[in-house]
Amino acid sequence: MGENSERITLTKGVYWVGAIDWNLRDFHGYVTPRGTTYNAYLIVDEKVALVDTVNAEFAGEMMERIRQIIDPAKIDYVVANHVEMDHSGSLPAVMEAIPGAKIYGTRQCKNGLSQYYHAHGFDRWDFEIVETGSELNLGTKTLMFIEAAMLHWPDSMHTYIKEDKILLSNDAFGQHVATSNRFNDEVDDVMEDAAEYYANILMPFGKVILKYVGTVGELGIGIDMIAPCHGIIWRKDPGQIIEAYGRWASGENIPKVLVIYDTMWGSTHMMARSIVEGVTSTGVDVKLINIRKNDLSKIIKEILDAPVVLVGSPTLNNGMFPSVGEFLTYLKGLHPAGKKAAVFGSYGWGGGAVKAVEKELEAAGFELIEPGFQVRYRPDKEGLEKCRMMGERVAAVVKAM
Ligand code: FEO
Repeated sequence: MGENSERITLTKGVYWVGAIDWNLRDFHGYVTPRGTTYNAYLIVDEKVALVDTVNAEFAGEMMERIRQIIDPAKIDYVVANHVEMDHSGSLPAVMEAIPGAKIYGTRQCKNGLSQYYHAHGFDRWDFEIVETGSELNLGTKTLMFIEAAMLHWPDSMHTYIKEDKILLSNDAFGQHVATSNRFNDEVDDVMEDAAEYYANILMPFGKVILKYVGTVGELGIGIDMIAPCHGIIWRKDPGQIIEAYGRWASGENIPKVLVIYDTMWGSTHMMARSIVEGVTSTGVDVKLINIRKNDLSKIIKEILDAPVVLVGSPTLNNGMFPSVGEFLTYLKGLHPAGKKAAVFGSYGWGGGAVKAVEKELEAAGFELIEPGFQVRYRPDKEGLEKCRMMGERVAAVVKAM
C-alpha cells in the first residue's frame, strides 16, 4: 500500500480502512484535480462491523488495511450506508471473503444492491432492513442508523456510534481530495473543498438537508466527530461543517456578481468586460469567468454563494454557444435556490442565444431581473456603455439584498 500503511484510528476500536485514489481526475463529470478517497470504517468490539466499502478497483487496498487490524474473516456485520458503486463496489469481494456476514441498510439500499449485484450472488446475502433509530449492539459500542434519503440518493443512510459520538455520514460532509492525512486538524482548506463538493453534489437537496439537520437535532445526539466517505474526517470542531451545510442549504449569499460567458470572435467578451467595469465602479465584488477556460465544477462552486449571475453567449446557428449550453445543462440539474440572473450576448443576423439562455436559466430556477441585452456583430461605444450600465444596475440589486 505504500504511504499511510499504518493503522489510522478515529478512537479506540474505530479505524479508517479506506482507499486513496490519488489519480482520479474526473468523478462522473466533477473535475477532481486532487483525486479523492473512498472511506470505509472498521469497528472492532465483541462483534466486528465494517461500515461501507470502496470503489471496486481498490478492494485489495481496503482488505489489506483491514488485515493489518484483524483477520477479515472476523467481520460479523457490514453496514451499507449507500448503494452508489464508489462505496458498494467492493461489497461482492467482501461477501466472497466473509459469506456469513450480515448486511444492514435501508429498504431502498436493499432494492438498489439487489439490482447492482444480482450477478454476484445478492440473493444469498443476509440483508437486514433498518430505519432511523434502529440499533445494532457490538458489545461495548452501539451503532444507531439514521436514514438520509436524498442525501443524495434514496437509499442514503448514516451510521452513528453512540458511545463514541462519531457520525459516519457517507457522502454528506465529504470532499473530493486525496491527501496523506485523514483529519481536518492536519490539512488546510478543508472547508473550501467541502464547499465545492456541496455545490456540485448536494446543492439540489437543500430542503432535505435542512430537514436532516432537524432530525439529528430531534434525536438529541452529540457529535464529537464526523467521518464522511470522501476526503477528510472532521475531528476538530465538527459542528463547523453542519453549520456550513445549514448556511449553504438556506441559500445564504455574499455580495458578489458573477459574469459567466463564452465568446466566438470577442464581441461577447467585450460586453462582459464592460459589465465587469460597471459592477466594479459600484464597489461590489465581481468575477469574470470564461466557461471554456474554467472547469464547470469550479464555476458551480462560485455560484453557491453568488446572489446574481450574468450569463453571456454569442449566437451560433440561431441558438446559444455549445459551451454555454453544456454549462446550463449542468446548472439546471443542480437547480440552485434563490438566485437572480440577467443575460447578454452578440449575434450576426438572426440572433437567438439570449432568449435561449434566458429560457434555460428560468428552467434552472433563476429569476430574471431585467430583459436580455444583445448587440449585432461588434459592440460600439454606445453598446459597451449599455453593458457598463447593466453592471451598475445588477450591482444595485446585490446591494439592496
Ligand atoms: Fe460517493 Fe453517492 O457516492
